[in-house]
Amino acid sequence: MKKRYIDIEDITDLDAWVKEAIQLKDAPYQFSSLGKQKTLCMLFFNPSLRTRLSTQKAALHLGMHVMVMNFGAEGWQLEFDDGTIMNAGKAEHIKEAAAVVSQYCDVLAIRAFASLKDKQKDEAELVIKSFQKYASVPIVNMESATAHPLQALADAITIAEHKQAGRPKVVLSWAPHPRALPHAVANSFVKMMKLKDAEFVITHPEGYELNPSITQGGTIEYDQRKALKDADFVYVKNWSSYSDYGRMGNLYPDWMITREKMELTNQGKFMHCLPVRRNVVVDDAVLDGEHSLVIEQANNRTFAAQLVLKKILEHG
Ligand code: CP
Repeated sequence: MKKRYIDIEDITDLDAWVKEAIQLKDAPYQFSSLGKQKTLCMLFFNPSLRTRLSTQKAALHLGMHVMVMNFGAEGWQLEFDDGTIMNAGKAEHIKEAAAVVSQYCDVLAIRAFASLKDKQKDEAELVIKSFQKYASVPIVNMESATAHPLQALADAITIAEHKQAGRPKVVLSWAPHPRALPHAVANSFVKMMKLKDAEFVITHPEGYELNPSITQGGTIEYDQRKALKDADFVYVKNWSSYSDYGRMGNLYPDWMITREKMELTNQGKFMHCLPVRRNVVVDDAVLDGEHSLVIEQANNRTFAAQLVLKKILEHG
């Protein structure tokens, strides 16, 4: 493995990684000396519940020290451009910030969401790529503008644990949401599913196509009910328009996942990365029902992060 975890492409063998993560889950403290006298620094430019606590727990399982900073709220505003005359609002350049933070830690994890205003800038992954360029320690992506690979690895673990059929049918369904949301979770889920032996279908209203370079070769079905038929797993997520970048046009409230829709599936398991808006994205009956995996998915975030940190420490 490369000394980083920025995107799904950094997974060298998904099946082997999932197996190893499940072994870590069985005995979380078996490598508790690996991270001794090593420090994980987590910088958050955006809010988090699961990512923050599960990644911290993962590091603690490995015996690491952890430092957390809400950089977006508490740090200096960063300048990313070279050669700028910094006589306006931004007080610190990424070159110094990344170099300085690297002296305080052995692994640097970063969360920096998409702006959803400038597609080119978001796709350039300015924040995480700039830290990668100027830091001298390995970088872990805790959700960037276009990717959430820790979530996708946790999702792969969850599917492996609950898979009945040899080749399950997995459906990624768009769902309504009152606010425009980034594409990161869906992008990484699609990339991860391409590494699995599964019948994979993406369903969304017309106009909500994801980045075609990511979905290329995949099956897209605009009829949600048709897509859900006989599904073993239903992964639900909202994302804003990619072509009309960051916009939410028609909210399509009838795309909410309901118990009646889940009856079309093969007793399908309901998955969502959380946080989720009840009775907008999914109704209470599904979320609270016996086929909902959302709490287990969140638990698996710990072991996805632990596996990534373990691999980085082993190759450090
Ligand atoms: N799923 C996820 O990344 O949750 P948080 O935003 O709470 O970290």
